[in-house]
Amino acid sequence: MSHQTIIVLDFGSQYTQLIARRLRELSVYSEIWPPATPPEKIRARQPVGIILSGGPKSVSEAGAPTCDAGVFDLGVPVLGICYGMQLMASSLGGRVEPAPQREYGHAIVTQCASRTSSNGDALGLFTDVPSEIRVWASHGDLVSAAPAGFSVVATSANAPIAAMADTRRSLYAILFHPEVVHTERGVEILRNFAYGICGCTGDWTMASFVEEATAKIRAQVGEGRVVCALSGGVDSTVAALILHRAVGGQLTCIFVDNGVLRLNEATQVRKRFERLRLPLVFVDASSLFLERLAGVTDPEKKRKIIGATFIDVFEQEATKLGTVDFLAQGTLYPDVIESVSIVGQSEVIKSHHNVGGLPVRMRMKLVEPLRELFKDEVRAVGRKLGLDEEFVVRQPFPGPGLAVRILGEVTPARLDLLRRADAVVAEEVKRAGWYERLWQSFAVLLPVQSVGVMGDARTYEYTVAIRAVESRDGMTADWARLPHDLLATISSRIVNEVKGINRVVYDISSKPPSTIEWE
Ligand code: XMP
Repeated sequence: MSHQTIIVLDFGSQYTQLIARRLRELSVYSEIWPPATPPEKIRARQPVGIILSGGPKSVSEAGAPTCDAGVFDLGVPVLGICYGMQLMASSLGGRVEPAPQREYGHAIVTQCASRTSSNGDALGLFTDVPSEIRVWASHGDLVSAAPAGFSVVATSANAPIAAMADTRRSLYAILFHPEVVHTERGVEILRNFAYGICGCTGDWTMASFVEEATAKIRAQVGEGRVVCALSGGVDSTVAALILHRAVGGQLTCIFVDNGVLRLNEATQVRKRFERLRLPLVFVDASSLFLERLAGVTDPEKKRKIIGATFIDVFEQEATKLGTVDFLAQGTLYPDVIESVSIVGQSEVIKSHHNVGGLPVRMRMKLVEPLRELFKDEVRAVGRKLGLDEEFVVRQPFPGPGLAVRILGEVTPARLDLLRRADAVVAEEVKRAGWYERLWQSFAVLLPVQSVGVMGDARTYEYTVAIRAVESRDGMTADWARLPHDLLATISSRIVNEVKGINRVVYDISSKPPSTIEWE
């Protein structure tokens, strides 16, 4: 079954994914497409609505992304947001010019009194929205003349046209960002567009997703055998749960203990899978990984060794299973969006692909049951399929594990120090109620020894850095302003409980220019 879909054309705004996520939170399925998608291709997909996202450029600037004007003639309602509004205006004969006063941040938008006149259905967008709202704006250009057929629906202090509409053609545009939480009633505006104007009925729910994904997997896999590489994280676990629901005993999950997991993590994975009654092959390859990591200090080398060793071990285990046709992966929607925002960002800063290359080498086909989902949706599906809340809200953990949090050589002794320090961080951050507010919080072991004094004795021991960041997607991050009391507790517990560490520092760098992990 195909859901009613709103297509978001992405002109590069940092908020594009947020538009799609907000719609999905409203139970409306939404996909993000490249801006220059030909109208015929859009028509073939039969969307019930189209949204043109914001973007960082000026419509008149060389190289500014654009869409085919045919998009406005598909007979499908279109909503332009910010850059999308400027593009709609300039494509249809209106005028866009630099704003004398740029609007960044909060602005007050006032609906025009005339909105209730004959063409008043422009209000469709503003149904049940107060006539004056505080919004989030971020634009340097404005629309100074609306195209023929449009009426002005709202204004703001610095923009004569803050919203415009041509209801005859079902074209709507707003200069501010309804998808951002700082816009009052923004969700209602999106709901009005989706339900009131596009006629959505709210057919996108996680229950329907699970049903359809199950049917789709059955159709794809048939009688084939599937192997799923578990990382211990939420995505691969949820992928395994759906697969198991779909094909039962045709699925085998493989979990490789790579020796650089956190305290008790391997045991927890085992227990969780037992409880969920998922078939698990548990491979303790920690000695092999640690042997290969011995003496290695270069971060990229460590990552490469871990990636390659994982493939070796996994391949060996999968071969034991006989013929396997499919490899399951927990790929998520943000990884598959072809967006202008990622064009040009091909430079490898760190090699992230944990199991890249595996399917080709093993001649297996891929099955990716979560390809359509955002992270929040994966969590919702996980809850539905019986995962415990503590696991569902787990912070991300990198594939190369603690190896990228031990600067210098990875040794069993250093792993032991870091594991114990890291467990203190996790425990205290959770106890203080900060865990879910943070993208990640963890300890890093530095290859630095310094002088301390414990009791009456001089110590010369290691330093641990605490990293805690807030982030929306891991692409950018800011260090968390953790309460001093919490930092104090973490520091004194680590120094007192972990023999071998006598100093704790707090990392106050944001990303960019730093990264979240230290290696
Ligand atoms: P950085 O350190 O590049 O990390 O700012 C951004 C996010 O990605 C995670 N990360 C990884 N995840 N395999 C993964 O699955 C990796 O090799 C890897 N390296 C970094 C990191 O934890 C952060 O959330």
